[in-house]
Amino acid sequence: MPFRSQNLLPREQMIELVRLATLAPSEHNTQPWKFSIHGNEVRIFPDFTRRLPIIDPDDHGLYIGLGCALENLLVAARNHGLEAHVEYFPTGEPDECLLVHLDRGKESRDADAFKAIPLRQTTRCSFGERDIPKGDLRRLEAANCFENIHFRLFTEPREILGVMEFVKEASRVQFRNPVFVEELLAWIRFNAKEVSDHQDGLAAPALGLSCTPRWLGKIIMKALATSEKKARMAEKLIRTSSELILFTVEKNDRHHWVDLGRSFERVALTATTLNIKMAHMNMPCEVPQVRRDLQKHLGMDEEQPLLLLRIGYGPDMPRSPRRPVQNVLVG
Ligand SMILES: Cc1cc2nc3c(=O)[nH]c(=O)nc-3n(C[C@H](O)[C@H](O)[C@H](O)COP(=O)(O)O)c2cc1C
Repeated sequence: MPFRSQNLLPREQMIELVRLATLAPSEHNTQPWKFSIHGNEVRIFPDFTRRLPIIDPDDHGLYIGLGCALENLLVAARNHGLEAHVEYFPTGEPDECLLVHLDRGKESRDADAFKAIPLRQTTRCSFGERDIPKGDLRRLEAANCFENIHFRLFTEPREILGVMEFVKEASRVQFRNPVFVEELLAWIRFNAKEVSDHQDGLAAPALGLSCTPRWLGKIIMKALATSEKKARMAEKLIRTSSELILFTVEKNDRHHWVDLGRSFERVALTATTLNIKMAHMNMPCEVPQVRRDLQKHLGMDEEQPLLLLRIGYGPDMPRSPRRPVQNVLVG
């Protein structure tokens, strides 16, 4: 149904909503999005110049990132007292986009989620021993509000160690592949100058690494990133995590990937409000053969496992950079 606004919203307000959208997570922090603002409409476009052909050849990770950005925008809009109507990939548009129509509406604020937008982060360090209360786990589960997205929680050590073997196997496959390592290195920002030049990518401090010149960082990463060391590191990190969360989709298409991103972002914002940290252990979702083996292990048929995370309690980490909003606005 068309959604027509009588009231033009201030452009500064629209720009602020886009800024909050850009604080969303994205694979390798590629920030694979562009935005346009026309009247009360925001369009979110995929930026395929920022795709990751090796780790994400079908772009599902890219569309998950777009879904995360969309969800931030919607949470922020609600907190500004705005109503939103969203269209996924409308056919009348010249360019592929997610179209958000905004208008002044009923108050339906979600202040906790809104406050969590700038605080949420990916926390890659070891987590503490403390268990997450069952009530908080239920709140994370309830944050997934899409019927076509499944949220699976692994709490039993036997289940977690079972899934861990697939993480280790996929890590070995990935880090044995020099092209995978080159793609990863291309997105690592080894020092403050690289961060300030690019304002994207994986900043050394956010990875828990010291800053170095690029040539030295590459040597260290290559020494650390042998397949067996990476598998052992993944095992150590999972063993400090109290639970694993797996997001799966019923169908492997861009609509489901965006929904998964939205669902993941809602869960991540809820976790932030509960002071629960999360980090990705996606490797078995990224290597096709291992993904098939994981599906079989979990008794899945068509359902695709696409995002795996570990959760627990840990310290705040240095933040990842973002490009300024002016750099992602087009049109
Ligand atoms: C689809 C997707 C896949 C991701 N995969 C990984 C991953 O395999 N390993 C990892 O450490 N972080 C992963 N991340 C987290 C991003 O690297 C992170 O969001 C980005 O660096 C920005 O940092 P922030 O989340 O702290 O804002 C992923 C994020 C998304 C959305």
